[in-house]
Amino acid sequence: MPLIDKETVQRITDAADIVEVVGDYVHLVRRGANYMGLCPFHNERTPSFSVNKRKNFCYCFSCKQGGSPVNFIMKKEGLSYHEALLHLARKYGIEVREREMTDEERRRQSEREAMLVANEWAMAQMQNALFNTEEGQTVGLSYFFGQRGITKEAADAFKLGYSIDNGSWLTNLSIKAGYDIDVLKKTGLVGTSHEGNRNYDRYRGRVIFPILNTAGKVIGFGGRTLKNDKAKYINSPESEIYKKSNELYGIYQARNSITRDDKCYLVEGYFDVIGMWQSGMKNVVASSGTALTDGQIALIHRYTENITLIYDGDKAGIKAALRGMDMLLHHKMKVKVLLLPDGEDPDSFARSHTPEEFRKYVEMNETDVIRFKAKVLVQDMERDPMQRINAVNDMVTTLAHIDDLIARDVYVQECSRIMNIPEETILKSVVKKRGELTIQWRNARNIKELSRFAPERTNETAETRHNIHTPATTSVNKTGETSAIENEMPQNYAGIQIDSVESRPPLKPQPKTVSPLQPLEKKIMEYCLKYGFLPFCDFNDENGNMIIWNVAEYVAEDLKEDGISFSVEIYDHIFKLLLGLRPSYDNALNAKISEIEQTIELKRKEGVEAIAAKNLSIADIEREEKKLEESLENLREKEITDFSLSFPAKYLANHEDDEIRETVTELIIERHQLSNIYYRDNNVVETDQDRLPQLVPRALLELKSEILNGQLRQLYSELNTVAQEGDEDAEKDILMKINSKIHQRSMLAKDLGERILYPKK
Ligand code: CTP
Ligand code: MN
Repeated sequence: MPLIDKETVQRITDAADIVEVVGDYVHLVRRGANYMGLCPFHNERTPSFSVNKRKNFCYCFSCKQGGSPVNFIMKKEGLSYHEALLHLARKYGIEVREREMTDEERRRQSEREAMLVANEWAMAQMQNALFNTEEGQTVGLSYFFGQRGITKEAADAFKLGYSIDNGSWLTNLSIKAGYDIDVLKKTGLVGTSHEGNRNYDRYRGRVIFPILNTAGKVIGFGGRTLKNDKAKYINSPESEIYKKSNELYGIYQARNSITRDDKCYLVEGYFDVIGMWQSGMKNVVASSGTALTDGQIALIHRYTENITLIYDGDKAGIKAALRGMDMLLHHKMKVKVLLLPDGEDPDSFARSHTPEEFRKYVEMNETDVIRFKAKVLVQDMERDPMQRINAVNDMVTTLAHIDDLIARDVYVQECSRIMNIPEETILKSVVKKRGELTIQWRNARNIKELSRFAPERTNETAETRHNIHTPATTSVNKTGETSAIENEMPQNYAGIQIDSVESRPPLKPQPKTVSPLQPLEKKIMEYCLKYGFLPFCDFNDENGNMIIWNVAEYVAEDLKEDGISFSVEIYDHIFKLLLGLRPSYDNALNAKISEIEQTIELKRKEGVEAIAAKNLSIADIEREEKKLEESLENLREKEITDFSLSFPAKYLANHEDDEIRETVTELIIERHQLSNIYYRDNNVVETDQDRLPQLVPRALLELKSEILNGQLRQLYSELNTVAQEGDEDAEKDILMKINSKIHQRSMLAKDLGERILYPKK
């Protein structure tokens, strides 16, 4: 929802200086061309947080967090893109021009704001009531502190409160304070009697758990009864500000620890979150008693891929643990399960054990989720042989959600062992199931995508997907079912884009798609993002005009020649954006050059005057002037190079699309850390930048070679199939294809060998 006008965004990102922005949080010390400080995203004693003023970019060598000023503020302050821009605009005194909101947008916006303000106010009233009223102390506090063992520190961190046991306490206060009663009704703080004529406090006599979003805004409340009410908890209703399925209790308090520990614990309830937090495991959130949703998983995935589900070891707990796992796997989360002893929840466990014991228990008992499920299902099977089929089907569905082929194979083997079912049987069913699921995912994705990026991404799918040299061979056998390998290989290799498109989770697409080509494509992307606008090669076209290609264009042309595009969809998207930046780069470069020329003209004047003042011989003057011209020429080149180097990041690392911005940031950070230095003879130092003429073509060759390998693997398995069927014609045909691929591969290898100039010691 970019409500800030485009030009304003530009002005903000131009003005935001990374050293100043980071400097507000980190004590920076100059070191060479960069600044260093202690990383604000993880605990450390020696500085590994580097700030590069020229590139306007920061990153941590150790935890890899960082990015542009906007990214830094988003992560540090837990803000959305939009909010981070406003934050920076305030810092730099930039007047924000908002684009015209539609009437509907304006109505919603003011409704949201009014609700958030009312919630914030109500939270303060209930915190105050807990600590500073007699009823709050004797009823609420003694419950929290006495019965539930909650500490003052936790009560403050979670902003716990109490609602006075009087049906109109908060209602009356709010009227006095001038709040619109309709707003309080919408947030669910105030209810209306059946007859519709009387308002009352919905949370009366309850202890209160405010629910905060990542930015720390109070979006809802949970209230626990202290009596024997039918409803143990009352929660905020769905509203403009509270979409239960997209929120997690505790995320605000946990988010930094989740990043730091690269792991998130998921528990069921309010007290469980606080109990674990008090035991020192602060990276914990609750789904509040319901099954995990797509939106909640995406929220966790913003901070980590590792999640451990913690449940009571009773039957209900086991069931709950199994419920959300398919979706988690599909979102490429690495999932573990931890069962507590029967009848315990994290809250009770935390109270009956020391933090040390709790931690140990977690470490010893965390189990990989698939192994866990297989073991549970085996027990079912033993108990009731009739359940065997159901159990296998259930397991198969789970396995089919794993996108990574290698991981899936490992798990298929393991499940076959645990459940004592032939591997082949499982494999076959998994392949079939994946076929069904793929269709489901594709449909779900199409619906989502159509509503978001309608024109752009949909028409891409059909036409621009090529493969190398030969058309995709998705062979279908007589029964119409694609066989295991046939189903795999084309997805991963030949039909290059198809896998990453279809298997992507519908809600939060992940840049970390595990395609075998991904690491190779990533390397190329890194070169393009870092050096994309440096001139790379020149040649004459048919009219004799000299054409200069920059690195990105060279890559584009080279890939096009072989009919390849990036298989990782987000890379493909970013690469196209990068190519599209050329016109604005040219414009900006022209402006930059005239700026540089002015500087140079000034320096030249100064230099010439200085030489004249020295009273030298004519010959010396000539020599000095030549030196001056050389240094000016160097300066010009350096300035232009610096400008080109920083250009892609300036645009793409500030992009409004979260996925694009984050992927670009990650790639740039990675490249920084990998910036190799090579030593040539005579100790001449070369960097990646000097070696681009070797590195870029080599990276492209490596990619092509891997694509060929994939196609070969596919052909070999096809060969296997037809050999078994005894189809000799088909066998010959495939053998021919294999030969031609091997030939291609050896040509490539030769090319690779010629291009590789190993770094000398
Ligand atoms: N929950 C709810 N409404 C209910 C029951 C439960 O919203 N009527 C949600 C709450 O978020 C609760 C979580 O489900 O924290 C887990 O429920 P439960 O285990 O019953 O409660 P506990 O959190 O363990 O609370 P207590 O220890 O006080 O019984
Ligand atoms: Mn409990």
